[in-house]
Amino acid sequence: MTAEIADRATDGYRARFGAEPDGVWFAPGRVNLIGEHTDYSGGYVLPFALGAGVAVAAGRGPEEAITVWSGQQAGDPDGVTAGLGALTPERITGWAAYPLGVAWSLRAAGHRLDGTRVAIEADLPMGAGLSSSAALECATALALCDVHDLRVPRSELVALASRAENEFVGAPTGIMDQSAALLCRAGHALLLDCRSGAVEEVPLDPAAAGLALVLIDTGTRHALTDGRYARRRWSCEEAARLLGVASLRDLVDRPDDVRLLADPELRRRAGHVVTENRRVLESADLLRHGALADVGPLLTQTHESLRDDFDVSWPQADVAVDAARSAGAAGARMMGGGFGGSVLVLTSVGLVPGVTDAIAAAYARRRWTAPGITRAVPSDGARRLR
Ligand code: GLA
Repeated sequence: MTAEIADRATDGYRARFGAEPDGVWFAPGRVNLIGEHTDYSGGYVLPFALGAGVAVAAGRGPEEAITVWSGQQAGDPDGVTAGLGALTPERITGWAAYPLGVAWSLRAAGHRLDGTRVAIEADLPMGAGLSSSAALECATALALCDVHDLRVPRSELVALASRAENEFVGAPTGIMDQSAALLCRAGHALLLDCRSGAVEEVPLDPAAAGLALVLIDTGTRHALTDGRYARRRWSCEEAARLLGVASLRDLVDRPDDVRLLADPELRRRAGHVVTENRRVLESADLLRHGALADVGPLLTQTHESLRDDFDVSWPQADVAVDAARSAGAAGARMMGGGFGGSVLVLTSVGLVPGVTDAIAAAYARRRWTAPGITRAVPSDGARRLR
């Protein structure tokens, strides 16, 4: 699949720019095993990289401008061109803000870019909760660094890509997705402390344990810029302020403090975050001891907490989770920012057909579009392909 999108990106580059690219770079989408809506409160997350992602063919261009073209954007057949000096957050909107935002944030950090041409292809659905946007940012970041001989450590690229998303695109997200795209390794999940930036690779090999991680695309789409995500983030910051701590991360060891919040909604929101941080640490510990199956109940608890306390689930996710559980899955939960996207199911390999059939049947009974079903395999992070 990766070779296929690399070929398509190269072909797109040749067709659009009439030249050979200098190279092709790839960044994957991610699955978050557990740790949802904890990253922007300095908490813990445990994502892994997918095999699918975004390929970027890139090369130097003749003038002080950057052109981004995407095979996914039929509405922009010539792509989008911007003068490098004229890149400002207000001027670029839509899909091009992700790759151009990365050029902007590299320049804002003092890195020198010259004229650049970029052609993009992907085998990752957009808005499906798999971080297609971070994959696009991170593949672009690697490409721009190599094309212009910039030596930027990956930890700094995480910050630069996140800044592009926060300040150029205008989505107030945390650092989980960019960290996963840039830092993950095959056969492992990444335990990330979003306050210190410390990472630990934790072994994650479902097949070896007779288990499968299955992604259910619920067909419902979401946007992290629609205000609902930002409101959740604000609630967490407000709860921390009222409790006199810098962020909800500070309550990992004293979760009962959230009971001091007078406002019932803030109490539920903060309650999710503090319990979720503990579930991440517990899950990482289980993985270190090769007990992936025991993570199942924690996934289900996370779903219930996101549904009932953080209020970010949606009907198609709830139905998929309930159907998976009734059919014997070890655990299941909605994934990502919420309000649309994908559900993650952990089940024994033998039960995969029964579980996925049960979900498909539950959707058919409601006359919903059939769910997309794929196996998630912990894969390598971003890299140069050619
Ligand atoms: C989106 C954001 C992440 C994170 C998740 C929720 O994926 O991009 O930073 O906040 O939602 O866990």
